[in-house]
Amino acid sequence: MTVSARARPPPRLSPGALEAARRARLALGDPRARPNVRWLERLTGAPTARLSEVLEELADLVPIEAEIRRLHREGGRSHYAQFRAPLELYAIVRLLRPDHVVETGVSSGVSSAHLLLALARNRKGRLHSIDRPTPQRGATFGPSDSPVAVPPGRSSGWAIPASVRSGWDLRLGASETLLPRLAREVGSIGLFLHDSLHTPAHLTFELETVRPKLVPGAVVLADNTAWTGQSFPRFARSLGVAVARRGRTDLVGLRVA
Ligand SMILES: C[S@@+](CC[C@H](N)C(=O)[O-])C[C@H]1O[C@@H](n2cnc3c(N)ncnc32)[C@H](O)[C@@H]1O
Repeated sequence: MTVSARARPPPRLSPGALEAARRARLALGDPRARPNVRWLERLTGAPTARLSEVLEELADLVPIEAEIRRLHREGGRSHYAQFRAPLELYAIVRLLRPDHVVETGVSSGVSSAHLLLALARNRKGRLHSIDRPTPQRGATFGPSDSPVAVPPGRSSGWAIPASVRSGWDLRLGASETLLPRLAREVGSIGLFLHDSLHTPAHLTFELETVRPKLVPGAVVLADNTAWTGQSFPRFARSLGVAVARRGRTDLVGLRVA
């Protein structure tokens, strides 16, 4: 069952939260990154007042968002096909306060940066990221390059400011090899984000690998599910929970009962 986050009027955020989110996404240079509050509410169960509180914190992130944008430009990217909901990632981590966050797919590091920022504010928890970087073919970014290619001489997370990287567990390689190892190591997973290889078999592999470590109330997110068929809905059904879709996009999530 997919429950759209558009079924009823949106919760009313505080003016401070709306303004902070507006400034953060402008500084990041991604006007699409407007937080979807209904989606956040479905995934976290947080009341609107609490959502407003954590979104108001985005005002403090404005200089870092500007720095992430500057680093992208310095790396030759005026536009970058980054994770589309970075501000929601920040809010989810602030609301869930997980001990361990696991993500697959880093590229320049927009998702990772926002997860790290929220964990730092929580003063607890660790981000474990897995990425097999896709190298850019030549010295300059060309039409044959993958939109998530890493510029020459850089590696995964290349647009994450140094001040944000503290405590980050970044593992380079294929998630087919590294994720089972990581899942054995971490005691629990409070948030899992799939943003690596978007095929049905690979998404199912990643979801089944992390399943035994998901804590009650954990949130699981997957991007680009238009390419992964029934993998995510089938996983949600097996857990007996609904899929929460972010507006009309194919970024989806669920909350473990
Ligand atoms: C869509 S990008 C990630 C975007 C990132 N989450 C962000 O916020 O910008 C996908 C990344 O996953 C990597 N990747 C693809 N297949 C992979 C695999 N099997 N294991 C690990 N990483 C993989 C790609 O090279 C790329 O760096």
